[in-house]
Amino acid sequence: MSKDIVQIFDTTLRDGEQVPGCKLDTTQKLVIAERLEVMGVDIIEAGFPISSPGDFNSVNEIAKLVKNATVCGLTRAVKKDIEVAAEALKPAARPRIHTGIGTSDSHIKHKFNSDRSKIIERAVAAVSHAKNFVDDVEFYAEDAGRTNNEFLAQVCEAVIKAGATVLNIPDTTGYCLPYEYGEKIKFLKENVKGIEKAILSCHCHNDLGLATANSIAGVINGARQIECTINGIGERAGNTSLEEVVMVMRQHPNLNLDTNINSKLLYSTSQMVSQKMGMPVQPNKAIVGSNAFAHSSGIHQDGVIKNRETYEIINPEDVGVNESSIVLTARSGRAALAYRAKKVGYELTKLQLDEVYQEFLKYADRKKEVVDNDIHEIIASSKVNIESLT
Ligand code: KIV
Ligand code: ZN
Repeated sequence: MSKDIVQIFDTTLRDGEQVPGCKLDTTQKLVIAERLEVMGVDIIEAGFPISSPGDFNSVNEIAKLVKNATVCGLTRAVKKDIEVAAEALKPAARPRIHTGIGTSDSHIKHKFNSDRSKIIERAVAAVSHAKNFVDDVEFYAEDAGRTNNEFLAQVCEAVIKAGATVLNIPDTTGYCLPYEYGEKIKFLKENVKGIEKAILSCHCHNDLGLATANSIAGVINGARQIECTINGIGERAGNTSLEEVVMVMRQHPNLNLDTNINSKLLYSTSQMVSQKMGMPVQPNKAIVGSNAFAHSSGIHQDGVIKNRETYEIINPEDVGVNESSIVLTARSGRAALAYRAKKVGYELTKLQLDEVYQEFLKYADRKKEVVDNDIHEIIASSKVNIESLT
């Protein structure tokens, strides 16, 4: 059975770039946009054109550069925003305007001092205006995660009638539980007239560490686009991490879902974005962290050396990491020491390994991690005759 493709909408250059102190200039954004396109991202959200002349310029330059992916610009449900975004997107082969408004009672009351019917009017007016410039209009219902489902369905129905091609259902505050977010998407699929004319999109924030789980719950329930960022960067605790959702779908064939992403470029893209933004990737970050394929306890090392799959569910090469690493610490066992010693040129017999291992433990207790150079020193100071080693 052929798999359904979930579109990957990358917002590293817009929502991701909202991280304090991580601003990118146009040249850096162009390099990242080029890489996102090569990696197979379907939609690149290039920026928020009305927010500053610099952002306008970045969106405009990315629109000129990108050939296959859709290039998208964010707006509020404000005429001027939409006109400026349309202008910035003019050179794009596939332009998309992403417009929207807050739909939760809290946003309606505190942000807009308005009411539900006026919010629907503004949403429809924004989509209709954007349709004067581009065919592809995505509508976001900000704070959809905390929006009443019946009202959300009314908003969706109205903007589809106005021509919206994609409906973004953001869990703006990262509040939803996966089953709730999944039910929300299911509710919209089942209750919005005309829903077959639009794609439902998941845009989840990570305030409770649930962005990936919520996005996956969304696609299981019928959404066909995920909005995400490289390394999960973004406001506060960040957005859904691109590499995580891509690999969840790849590693779970039963979902019958896939993306157009070349996963072998995930690691190098993560490194590139981290360096350009000056934002280190946490070592235990799933898929792309430096420890994601590192094994340091004796039991795990022994298992991985015998068969990688005992403790690894992803082949590191599939995400562009050369190989799993066996990290030598005081918790490592003989199997790991023999494995690493062999890599640096020593084939140890069982007796030799016993000798060297005792020396290794003393050394490892003094040092957090034993590296290749240390192995030469450990073998030299053990009672083993180096000449007899191959
Ligand atoms: O989190 C959010 O609601 C957003 C919208 C502007 C799409 O980023
Ligand atoms: Zn967001």
